[in-house]
Amino acid sequence: MSELTDLSELAKRRGFFFASNEAYGGTAGFYTFGPEGAALKRNVEDVWRDRFVRELGHMELEAPTVMPEAVFEASGHLDTFDDMILECGDCGATHRADHLVEDATDVDDAEAFAPERVADLVADHDVACPSCGVPLADRPVEAFNLMFGTNIGPGSSSPGYLRPETAQGIFVEFPRLKEYARNQLPFGVAQIGRAYRNEISPRRALVRVREFTQAELEHFIDPEYDDPPLERVDDVELPLYSAAAQQDDGDLEHHTVAEALEAGVVESEWVAYYLGEALAFYEAIGVDMDRFRYRQHLPGELSHYAADCWDAETEVGGNWVEVTGFAYRSDYDLRKHGKHSEEEFTVFRQYDEPKTVERATVDPDMSYLGPTFGGAAGDVVDALEALARRDRSAFDGDAVTVEVDDESYTLPVEKTGFAVEEQTESGEHITPHVVEPSFGIDRLVYSVLAHRHGTDEVDGEERSFLALPTGVAPTTVAVVPLMTKDGLDERAREVAASLRAAGFEVNYDDTGNIGRRYRRQDEVGTPYCVTVDYDTLEDDTVTVRERDSTDQTRVAVDDLADAVDRLVSGAALSEL
Ligand code: ATP
Ligand code: GLY
Repeated sequence: MSELTDLSELAKRRGFFFASNEAYGGTAGFYTFGPEGAALKRNVEDVWRDRFVRELGHMELEAPTVMPEAVFEASGHLDTFDDMILECGDCGATHRADHLVEDATDVDDAEAFAPERVADLVADHDVACPSCGVPLADRPVEAFNLMFGTNIGPGSSSPGYLRPETAQGIFVEFPRLKEYARNQLPFGVAQIGRAYRNEISPRRALVRVREFTQAELEHFIDPEYDDPPLERVDDVELPLYSAAAQQDDGDLEHHTVAEALEAGVVESEWVAYYLGEALAFYEAIGVDMDRFRYRQHLPGELSHYAADCWDAETEVGGNWVEVTGFAYRSDYDLRKHGKHSEEEFTVFRQYDEPKTVERATVDPDMSYLGPTFGGAAGDVVDALEALARRDRSAFDGDAVTVEVDDESYTLPVEKTGFAVEEQTESGEHITPHVVEPSFGIDRLVYSVLAHRHGTDEVDGEERSFLALPTGVAPTTVAVVPLMTKDGLDERAREVAASLRAAGFEVNYDDTGNIGRRYRRQDEVGTPYCVTVDYDTLEDDTVTVRERDSTDQTRVAVDDLADAVDRLVSGAALSEL
């Protein structure tokens, strides 16, 4: 069986994840996390939160998943958040045209091509419909917006969309968030939540789904004055697959963060900083670092908002999967929201010393502007103020012209009250820049399951196990009675209850023979099993068995919670 088939089978059988709504025929692109998967996912999110919120001192919020159309007009998603769709004329199946081309050729960034070029490649390479085999050569390739639309309230006057990224829920609240940050840059705001994309062809289980969880951090910085704390990550070694290496058939290169910046492999200090910070996170949740790399975006691949972008990728089933995007989004989003809304998306940058500056101002004569321009007079004043700030030479002649809503208004300069004055200023308003690490939790959970699943032989039998790190395993300790008689099961329930009271995730398991119970726990990644047997009734000790080595040792019940605590903190079984 392939790694992916194996994984889907395990995931379904053991309750990690399975296709949703199967009672009604299933809904492509939607998965339900079962009891083991929901716990694993929650633990992965907690490790993320611990590192990217608590340890780095950022804030966390929770915004709605439905947002009004105006947000996505401003963010650019309405116009540009498209993939290329190609519909089979015979069976009606829809496909992502760039993926068809990538599968059929050695092109690996067809996403960056124009639809016409992709259509030509489909024809040139005789690409056939993967569903029915009919040639697709004469079919058009079109842009398809990935956002799920809805109406907010009854009727259709207030369109809304399910957010395609959690980030916008942070950006739109910037005017309020900056107050919580006491108007001081830099500050970071994180969010873990659902995002929705109406993917043309969902595939590879959790890798491409239509509803998924993102963990995003938006770090707002002053691009001129704020530097990342590189000393935290200077020596972290990064596996880097640069755009240049991809274009020249080059290899992965290993550089420390400091070397990567020095050599210009990573341009942005902030992006390099987060590549460094994130590495320990991937390790902590169990990603196999031999199946992991940071890949730089090729020029045509950059998102509409991104200035420099690297992806973290994991190898699963022979394919590289993007699990995180690290983007320098510049001031793109805040500038756009500032322009489209009534709010200020800026912060005040205080100068070290007040500065005396020359300012061009206007003080228009309203007894002239009112009768001359009527209802447009107010807008003409605004336009004159903006023009004076932007281009004072426009006031050099006798008359000046401004544009308001595609109309030109000309008036004598003497009626504008134009003057250049000296002013003392204590600072200026700037639009912060944004650095964004954006993690896809579902793809991470999927990668961890793939990387940690293995088989070996125990007592002459094949064993399937998940070598999950203790910090993310759904269950920390399983308590199993040797037999369900002679009071062993009652004592085992008491032991389980005492471990739960001590704060551990505990599973009590008394079905099937003891060997099967160990196998079951090994397969859901439980790192420790505690067995209550006849000796327990004599001397109140239990057996502690370790998943990976299958070694065992005896511990007094009174010391058990302390022993598990030490194991979780990294002690070896032999040290108990
Ligand atoms: P892809 O090119 O694979 O579609 P993307 O570049 O569109 O991904 P981003 O827009 O950067 O992805 O989204 C940030 C993160 O969200 C990704 O790194 C990924 O982990 C996750 N993500 C994006 N789309 C999906 C999806 N359809 N299913 C699961 N996770 C996703
Ligand atoms: N916030 C990055 C993305 O989802 O595209």
